[in-house]
Amino acid sequence: MEVLKWLLCICFLVTVGGDVPELEWLMSKLDEERAPAEVQEAAAAGILHRLLPSHASAFHFQIVSKDECGGHTCFLINNHNFSGKTGYPEITIKGTTGVELAAGLHWYLKHYCGAHLSWDKTGGVQLASVPRPGSLPIVHSGGFRVQRPVPWNYYQNAVTSSYTFVWWDWERWEKEIDWMALQGVNLPLAFTGQEAIWQKVFLRYNLTKSNIDDFFGGPAFLAWSRMGNLHGWGGPLPQSWLDQQLQLQKRILFRMRELGMNP
Ligand SMILES: *[C@@H]1O[C@H](CO)[C@@H](O)[C@H](O)[C@H]1NC(C)=O
Ligand SMILES: *[C@@H]1O[C@H](CO)[C@@H](O)[C@H](O)[C@H]1NC(C)=O
Repeated sequence: MEVLKWLLCICFLVTVGGDVPELEWLMSKLDEERAPAEVQEAAAAGILHRLLPSHASAFHFQIVSKDECGGHTCFLINNHNFSGKTGYPEITIKGTTGVELAAGLHWYLKHYCGAHLSWDKTGGVQLASVPRPGSLPIVHSGGFRVQRPVPWNYYQNAVTSSYTFVWWDWERWEKEIDWMALQGVNLPLAFTGQEAIWQKVFLRYNLTKSNIDDFFGGPAFLAWSRMGNLHGWGGPLPQSWLDQQLQLQKRILFRMRELGMNP
Protein backbone atom coordinates (compact mmCIF):
# COMPACT_ATOMS: atom_id res chain seq x y z
CA MET A 1 0.00 0.00 0.00
CA GLU A 2 2.87 2.27 0.89
CA VAL A 3 4.33 1.89 -2.56
CA LEU A 4 0.92 2.41 -4.19
CA LYS A 5 0.66 5.72 -2.44
CA TRP A 6 4.08 6.71 -3.73
CA LEU A 7 3.20 5.49 -7.20
CA LEU A 8 0.18 7.76 -7.35
CA CYS A 9 2.45 10.56 -6.35
CA ILE A 10 5.03 9.53 -8.97
CA CYS A 11 2.40 9.35 -11.72
CA PHE A 12 1.44 12.85 -10.84
CA LEU A 13 5.03 14.01 -10.85
CA VAL A 14 5.78 12.30 -14.14
CA THR A 15 2.71 13.94 -15.66
CA VAL A 16 3.96 17.28 -14.46
CA GLY A 17 7.22 16.36 -16.20
CA GLY A 18 10.61 17.98 -16.25
CA ASP A 19 13.33 17.59 -13.64
CA VAL A 20 11.58 16.50 -10.50
CA PRO A 21 13.56 16.74 -7.28
CA GLU A 22 10.76 14.94 -5.38
CA LEU A 23 11.27 11.88 -7.60
CA GLU A 24 15.00 11.92 -6.91
CA TRP A 25 14.18 12.14 -3.22
CA LEU A 26 11.82 9.15 -3.43
CA MET A 27 14.40 7.06 -5.31
CA SER A 28 17.08 7.75 -2.74
CA LYS A 29 14.64 7.04 0.09
CA LEU A 30 13.80 3.63 -1.38
CA ASP A 31 17.52 2.93 -1.87
CA GLU A 32 18.21 3.77 1.77
CA GLU A 33 15.55 1.33 2.93
CA ARG A 34 16.73 -1.55 0.80
CA ALA A 35 18.05 -4.74 2.43
CA PRO A 36 21.81 -4.83 3.18
CA ALA A 37 24.09 -5.82 0.29
CA GLU A 38 24.95 -9.23 1.76
CA VAL A 39 21.24 -10.07 2.13
CA GLN A 40 20.54 -9.23 -1.52
CA GLU A 41 23.65 -11.10 -2.69
CA ALA A 42 22.56 -14.18 -0.72
CA ALA A 43 19.03 -13.92 -2.16
CA ALA A 44 20.42 -13.86 -5.71
CA ALA A 45 22.68 -16.82 -4.90
CA GLY A 46 19.58 -18.63 -3.60
CA ILE A 47 17.90 -18.20 -6.98
CA LEU A 48 20.96 -19.60 -8.77
CA HIS A 49 21.01 -22.51 -6.34
CA ARG A 50 17.37 -23.38 -7.07
CA LEU A 51 17.70 -22.79 -10.81
CA LEU A 52 21.05 -24.40 -11.58
CA PRO A 53 22.49 -26.09 -8.50
CA SER A 54 25.37 -27.60 -10.49
CA HIS A 55 26.64 -24.05 -11.16
CA ALA A 56 26.09 -22.64 -7.68
CA SER A 57 29.82 -21.82 -7.35
CA ALA A 58 30.33 -20.65 -10.92
CA PHE A 59 28.93 -17.15 -10.42
CA HIS A 60 30.00 -14.46 -8.03
CA PHE A 61 27.35 -11.89 -7.08
CA GLN A 62 28.17 -8.45 -5.78
CA ILE A 63 25.94 -5.47 -4.96
CA VAL A 64 27.41 -2.17 -6.13
CA SER A 65 26.28 1.40 -5.68
CA LYS A 66 24.49 3.30 -8.42
CA ASP A 67 27.71 5.32 -8.88
CA GLU A 68 29.09 2.32 -10.79
CA CYS A 69 26.12 2.69 -13.15
CA GLY A 70 26.35 6.43 -13.72
CA GLY A 71 23.71 7.00 -11.04
CA HIS A 72 21.25 4.55 -12.62
CA THR A 73 20.04 0.99 -12.04
CA CYS A 74 22.10 -1.60 -13.88
CA PHE A 75 23.99 -4.86 -13.84
CA LEU A 76 27.59 -5.49 -14.94
CA ILE A 77 28.94 -8.81 -16.17
CA ASN A 78 32.59 -9.70 -16.24
CA ASN A 79 34.94 -12.65 -16.24
CA HIS A 80 35.98 -13.66 -12.80
CA ASN A 81 39.65 -14.23 -12.18
CA PHE A 82 39.16 -17.85 -13.12
CA SER A 83 41.58 -20.40 -11.72
CA GLY A 84 40.74 -23.00 -14.37
CA LYS A 85 39.31 -25.38 -11.75
CA THR A 86 35.69 -26.28 -11.29
CA GLY A 87 33.98 -25.21 -8.10
CA TYR A 88 35.29 -21.64 -8.46
CA PRO A 89 33.58 -18.52 -9.76
CA GLU A 90 33.93 -17.98 -13.49
CA ILE A 91 31.62 -15.04 -14.04
CA THR A 92 31.13 -12.01 -11.81
CA ILE A 93 27.74 -10.34 -11.81
CA LYS A 94 27.48 -6.96 -10.15
CA GLY A 95 24.24 -5.07 -9.78
CA THR A 96 22.58 -2.30 -7.87
CA THR A 97 19.96 -4.62 -6.29
CA GLY A 98 19.32 -8.34 -5.86
CA VAL A 99 16.90 -8.11 -8.79
CA GLU A 100 19.68 -6.70 -10.98
CA LEU A 101 21.96 -9.59 -9.98
CA ALA A 102 19.29 -12.14 -10.92
CA ALA A 103 18.45 -10.27 -14.15
CA GLY A 104 22.19 -10.24 -14.97
CA LEU A 105 22.35 -14.00 -14.42
CA HIS A 106 19.38 -14.47 -16.79
CA TRP A 107 20.96 -12.16 -19.36
CA TYR A 108 24.21 -14.13 -19.31
CA LEU A 109 22.49 -17.53 -19.46
CA LYS A 110 20.33 -16.34 -22.36
CA HIS A 111 22.91 -14.51 -24.47
CA TYR A 112 26.01 -16.59 -23.74
CA CYS A 113 24.60 -20.05 -23.02
CA GLY A 114 21.46 -20.18 -25.19
CA ALA A 115 19.21 -20.85 -22.19
CA HIS A 116 15.51 -20.05 -22.05
CA LEU A 117 13.79 -19.02 -18.81
CA SER A 118 10.08 -18.37 -18.75
CA TRP A 119 6.77 -19.55 -17.36
CA ASP A 120 5.93 -23.23 -17.81
CA LYS A 121 3.26 -22.33 -20.40
CA THR A 122 5.76 -20.38 -22.53
CA GLY A 123 8.55 -22.91 -22.62
CA GLY A 124 9.53 -23.16 -18.97
CA VAL A 125 13.14 -23.46 -17.92
CA GLN A 126 15.48 -24.83 -20.63
CA LEU A 127 19.04 -25.05 -19.38
CA ALA A 128 20.39 -28.09 -21.26
CA SER A 129 22.58 -25.84 -23.45
CA VAL A 130 24.44 -24.31 -20.49
CA PRO A 131 28.04 -25.63 -20.56
CA ARG A 132 29.17 -27.53 -17.51
CA PRO A 133 30.96 -25.71 -14.69
CA GLY A 134 34.54 -24.92 -15.65
CA SER A 135 33.55 -24.30 -19.30
CA LEU A 136 31.28 -21.28 -19.11
CA PRO A 137 31.78 -18.91 -22.07
CA ILE A 138 33.88 -15.87 -21.24
CA VAL A 139 32.59 -12.40 -22.05
CA HIS A 140 34.66 -9.86 -24.01
CA SER A 141 37.39 -8.21 -22.00
CA GLY A 142 36.17 -5.29 -19.98
CA GLY A 143 32.78 -7.02 -19.63
CA PHE A 144 29.58 -5.13 -20.25
CA ARG A 145 26.98 -3.08 -18.52
CA VAL A 146 23.21 -3.27 -19.03
CA GLN A 147 21.32 -0.26 -17.79
CA ARG A 148 17.62 -0.30 -17.03
CA PRO A 149 15.94 2.37 -19.19
CA VAL A 150 13.31 3.09 -16.52
CA PRO A 151 13.70 2.70 -12.76
CA TRP A 152 10.72 0.38 -12.25
CA ASN A 153 9.54 -2.80 -13.90
CA TYR A 154 5.99 -3.51 -12.78
CA TYR A 155 4.33 -6.93 -12.78
CA GLN A 156 0.82 -8.33 -12.24
CA ASN A 157 -2.83 -7.50 -12.63
CA ALA A 158 -5.14 -7.11 -9.65
CA VAL A 159 -7.45 -9.94 -10.77
CA THR A 160 -4.59 -12.45 -11.12
CA SER A 161 -4.60 -12.65 -7.33
CA SER A 162 -7.86 -14.50 -7.11
CA TYR A 163 -7.85 -16.26 -10.48
CA THR A 164 -4.42 -17.79 -9.94
CA PHE A 165 -2.31 -16.84 -6.93
CA VAL A 166 -4.98 -17.64 -4.39
CA TRP A 167 -4.37 -21.35 -4.93
CA TRP A 168 -0.62 -21.13 -4.45
CA ASP A 169 1.51 -22.35 -1.57
CA TRP A 170 4.94 -21.01 -0.64
CA GLU A 171 6.81 -23.34 -3.00
CA ARG A 172 4.84 -22.00 -5.96
CA TRP A 173 5.29 -18.41 -4.81
CA GLU A 174 9.00 -18.88 -4.36
CA LYS A 175 9.22 -20.11 -7.93
CA GLU A 176 7.32 -17.06 -9.19
CA ILE A 177 9.40 -14.60 -7.18
CA ASP A 178 12.54 -16.24 -8.63
CA TRP A 179 11.03 -15.81 -12.08
CA MET A 180 10.21 -12.15 -11.34
CA ALA A 181 13.78 -11.40 -10.27
CA LEU A 182 15.26 -13.21 -13.27
CA GLN A 183 13.05 -11.09 -15.56
CA GLY A 184 14.05 -7.89 -13.76
CA VAL A 185 10.71 -7.22 -12.07
CA ASN A 186 11.24 -4.89 -9.13
CA LEU A 187 7.74 -3.50 -8.56
CA PRO A 188 5.34 -6.43 -8.02
CA LEU A 189 1.86 -6.30 -6.60
CA ALA A 190 1.56 -8.02 -3.21
CA PHE A 191 -2.13 -8.51 -2.43
CA THR A 192 -2.00 -11.80 -0.50
CA GLY A 193 -3.62 -11.65 2.93
CA GLN A 194 -5.42 -8.37 2.33
CA GLU A 195 -8.64 -9.69 3.92
CA ALA A 196 -6.74 -10.67 7.09
CA ILE A 197 -5.72 -7.02 7.49
CA TRP A 198 -9.22 -5.75 6.66
CA GLN A 199 -10.63 -8.15 9.25
CA LYS A 200 -8.39 -6.64 11.93
CA VAL A 201 -9.35 -3.11 10.89
CA PHE A 202 -13.10 -3.84 10.74
CA LEU A 203 -13.03 -5.53 14.14
CA ARG A 204 -11.34 -2.45 15.56
CA TYR A 205 -14.21 -0.42 14.13
CA ASN A 206 -16.58 -2.68 16.10
CA LEU A 207 -18.05 -4.61 13.19
CA THR A 208 -19.01 -8.12 14.30
CA LYS A 209 -17.49 -11.31 13.02
CA SER A 210 -20.76 -12.18 11.25
CA ASN A 211 -20.91 -8.72 9.59
CA ILE A 212 -17.46 -9.38 8.20
CA ASP A 213 -18.17 -12.98 7.18
CA ASP A 214 -21.12 -11.69 5.18
CA PHE A 215 -18.88 -9.17 3.41
CA PHE A 216 -15.83 -11.10 2.19
CA GLY A 217 -16.18 -13.17 -0.96
CA GLY A 218 -14.65 -16.60 -1.48
CA PRO A 219 -11.03 -17.03 -2.61
CA ALA A 220 -11.84 -17.20 -6.33
CA PHE A 221 -13.81 -13.93 -6.16
CA LEU A 222 -11.49 -11.80 -4.03
CA ALA A 223 -10.50 -9.48 -6.85
CA TRP A 224 -14.15 -8.61 -7.51
CA SER A 225 -14.84 -8.23 -3.81
CA ARG A 226 -11.83 -5.96 -3.44
CA MET A 227 -13.04 -3.82 -6.31
CA GLY A 228 -16.42 -3.54 -4.60
CA ASN A 229 -18.32 -5.22 -7.46
CA LEU A 230 -19.82 -7.90 -5.23
CA HIS A 231 -19.77 -9.01 -1.64
CA GLY A 232 -20.21 -12.29 0.17
CA TRP A 233 -20.16 -14.28 -3.08
CA GLY A 234 -18.52 -17.69 -2.47
CA GLY A 235 -17.79 -16.71 1.13
CA PRO A 236 -17.37 -16.70 4.04
CA LEU A 237 -13.63 -17.11 4.43
CA PRO A 238 -12.68 -19.43 7.28
CA GLN A 239 -10.35 -18.01 9.92
CA SER A 240 -7.77 -20.70 9.14
CA TRP A 241 -7.59 -19.43 5.56
CA LEU A 242 -7.23 -15.79 6.62
CA ASP A 243 -4.44 -16.72 9.05
CA GLN A 244 -2.67 -18.89 6.50
CA GLN A 245 -2.79 -16.13 3.83
CA LEU A 246 -1.35 -13.62 6.28
CA GLN A 247 1.56 -15.94 7.12
CA LEU A 248 2.14 -16.58 3.43
CA GLN A 249 2.17 -12.85 2.66
CA LYS A 250 4.80 -12.24 5.32
CA ARG A 251 7.01 -14.81 3.63
CA ILE A 252 6.37 -13.32 0.20
CA LEU A 253 7.18 -9.78 1.31
CA PHE A 254 10.25 -10.93 3.20
CA ARG A 255 11.68 -12.61 0.09
CA MET A 256 10.77 -9.71 -2.19
CA ARG A 257 12.58 -7.32 0.13
CA GLU A 258 15.60 -9.62 0.39
CA LEU A 259 15.86 -9.27 -3.38
CA GLY A 260 15.62 -5.47 -3.16
CA MET A 261 12.16 -5.31 -4.76
CA ASN A 262 9.59 -2.65 -3.88
CA PRO A 263 6.40 -4.68 -3.31
C1 LIG B 1 43.75 -11.78 -11.38
O1 LIG B 1 44.80 -12.58 -10.93
C2 LIG B 1 46.08 -12.05 -11.24
C3 LIG B 1 47.13 -13.07 -10.84
O2 LIG B 1 46.87 -13.64 -9.59
C4 LIG B 1 46.25 -10.70 -10.54
O3 LIG B 1 47.52 -10.13 -10.83
C5 LIG B 1 45.14 -9.77 -10.98
O4 LIG B 1 45.21 -8.57 -10.27
C6 LIG B 1 43.79 -10.41 -10.76
N1 LIG B 1 42.74 -9.56 -11.34
C7 LIG B 1 41.62 -9.27 -10.70
C8 LIG B 1 40.65 -8.43 -11.48
O5 LIG B 1 41.37 -9.64 -9.57
C1 LIG C 1 -15.95 0.40 19.77
O1 LIG C 1 -16.66 0.10 20.93
C2 LIG C 1 -16.06 0.58 22.10
C3 LIG C 1 -16.86 0.05 23.29
O2 LIG C 1 -18.24 0.30 23.11
C4 LIG C 1 -15.98 2.10 22.06
O3 LIG C 1 -15.33 2.61 23.22
C5 LIG C 1 -15.20 2.52 20.84
O4 LIG C 1 -15.21 3.93 20.71
C6 LIG C 1 -15.80 1.91 19.60
N1 LIG C 1 -14.91 2.20 18.46
C7 LIG C 1 -15.35 2.73 17.34
C8 LIG C 1 -14.30 2.98 16.28
O5 LIG C 1 -16.51 3.02 17.12
